[in-house]
Formats: sequence, C-alpha cells, structure tokens
Amino acid sequence: MFTASQLLDKINNHISEIQFTRTPKGLYEPIEYILSLGGKRIRPVLMLMGYNLYREDIASIYGPATAIEVYHNHTLLHDDLMDRSDVRRGKPTVHKVWNDNTAVLSGDAMLILAFRYMTACPQEYLKEVMDLFSLTTLEICEGQQLDMEFESRCDVTENEYIEMIRLKTAVLLAASLKIGAILAGATAEDAENLYNFGMHIGVAFQLQDDLLDVYGDPKVFGKKIGGDILCNKKTYMLIKALEHADEKHQEELNRWLNAETFQPAEKIEAVTEIYNQLNIRNVCENKMREYYTLAMESLAAVAVAEDRKKELKNLVKLLMYREM
Ligand code: IPE
Ligand code: IPE
Ligand code: MG
Ligand code: MG
Ligand code: MG
Repeated sequence: MFTASQLLDKINNHISEIQFTRTPKGLYEPIEYILSLGGKRIRPVLMLMGYNLYREDIASIYGPATAIEVYHNHTLLHDDLMDRSDVRRGKPTVHKVWNDNTAVLSGDAMLILAFRYMTACPQEYLKEVMDLFSLTTLEICEGQQLDMEFESRCDVTENEYIEMIRLKTAVLLAASLKIGAILAGATAEDAENLYNFGMHIGVAFQLQDDLLDVYGDPKVFGKKIGGDILCNKKTYMLIKALEHADEKHQEELNRWLNAETFQPAEKIEAVTEIYNQLNIRNVCENKMREYYTLAMESLAAVAVAEDRKKELKNLVKLLMYREM
C-alpha cells in the first residue's frame, strides 16, 4: 500500500511527462502552463487511494487519474474567467497571460482531452466510469450556474448554498474516489460509501476554500484574498453573517452588497470586519466539522480493514487544516 505523498509524487511525474505534440501551439501552451503550476492534485490522489484500498497495481489507472486532474484544470480556466480572478497558484491566470478567448478554447480542449484520457480504462468498466464521469461534469456546470445566479440574490439559504457547493465541488472528489473503487473491482456498496465519503469531504473542502478566500495568506493560498467578497459570492460565511447580523450590521452588509462603485480594498476590509465581529469564522469551522464527522461515518461503512483506511484519514485531516 502507498502513502498519499508517494501517490502524489507518482501522479505528478506522470502528468509532467505528458507531451502535447499537436498544433497549433497557441491552443496547447496554456494547457502546459496551467498543468505546470501544479496545485494539490487531490483528485487524482483520491482516485489512486480509492483504487489502492483494494489493489496495488496503481500504474494501471494513471490514465483516468490524469483525466480527473486535466478536467479539474479545465474548470479552473473557465472558473477564473467567470470569477474575474487574475491569480491562481501564485501566478497570473490563463486569461491574463493570454486572453479570454484562449481561456475558453484551451479550456474546451482540456475538457475533451480529459474525456479521451478517461476512456483509457478497462473495457469492462468503461460504461460505468463514463456514465459517472459525464454525469459529474454536468453536475459541476449546474453548480457553477447556481454559483453565478446566487451573486445577484440576497435570499440564498444555507441549504441552497450546500447544494450549490455539492454540485460545483464535492461531486468531483466523490467521483474521483468512486472511479478508483470501480476500477479496482470494489463492491457497489463500497463504491457508494466512498462516493459519500468524498462528497462530505468535498463540502468541507469548499467551506475551507471560502474561508481561506477571506482569511488565507495570499502567498500560501495562491489566490487573491477577498475575491468572493468583491463578487458578492453567497458563501456560507456571508449567508451566516446576514442571518446573525443585528440591524446595523444588516444595513451595512446590504449597502456593500448593493454598492455599484467602491474601492475594492475598502469593501473587503469592511465585510471582513463584520465577519470578525460576528465570529463567522467559527461558525464556518463548526459546519466543516459536521461534514468531517459525516465523512468519517461514510468511511467507516467501507468494508476494508481499518488499517488500510489510515492514509485516507490522515489526508482528510490535512485537508481540513490546509492553508492552500
Ligand atoms: C480549487 O481547487 C477549486 C475548488 C474546488 C475550491 P483546489 O483547491 O484543489 O486547487 P488546486 O488544484 O490545488 O490548485
Ligand atoms: C470552484 O469554486 C469550483 C470550480 C472550479 C468548479 P471557486 O470559484 O471558489 O474556486 P477558486 O476559489 O476560484 O479556486
Ligand atoms: Mg467560482
Ligand atoms: Mg473561482
Ligand atoms: Mg474559492
């Protein structure tokens, strides 16, 4: 059995060896650029870990593991356009280095490449894997659409938010684990429990991402702080702040949400100050702990020896307290 860090090294090596030999270069250079910036690679690592619960020959699923990471990077190119984000992984985003059209088209090419890499899996599992992968990628579009629609609404509920992040983020972590399990020949029940485990850690993962968007260190996080505040993203923190606010804070928050002209730094500072006064960070961390507990319950139901689950448990703890 491999450790998470061994699996990370292996998938990193594999991805760094991909050669894009097709032309035009203008289509493939942005793909090489975003992939060369690395990132945590948690989705392929989760897939390999799901597989490695049952089987040792992990190299046989590098194709699908690469697919999930290339797909994830595709979503980042388009997400950064939608969120008007200029910095990712500590470097300028593709639409900044090149332009919007390049981010659209190189992003499209990555989506297609991901589907091509995913089909490099054994024939006997091909239909099940492609059904799950295509449904997951569709759900992510649905989540991203909701995320954008919520920007212009002020009555988004906690349940709507959780459903939105389940779709835009959690299902990909869930599908990564489940595809690993399917390819290893796990029982349908185990595959489902691993899916649920991934979904719960995925919700906690996005809660932490939203929290770091306010409280992270930009040098470590690799993204600009306050982007969600500027876009009026309906994060758990904003929803809870609107819910816990007294009349004065309520009015101030609404003023910032409706402001058409403002100094970005001033808005970020003012909204963050309201979060601080309402202790919203704590409220968010409590919600993350709820999902961590749910994740552990799903993992407990997976029918493999407890000592084989140790690596997954360690990884989830690291993710819960991550700074990047
Ligand atoms: C960023 O994903 C998008 C979210 C779902 C929050 P990651 O935080 O996994 O980004 P990288 O791949 O490590 O850069
Ligand atoms: C990301 O949500 C979800 C997807 C990329 C599908 P965010 O918009 O919060 O991700 P970051 O913060 O830009 O990485
Ligand atoms: Mg987004
Ligand atoms: Mg974004
Ligand atoms: Mg974010």
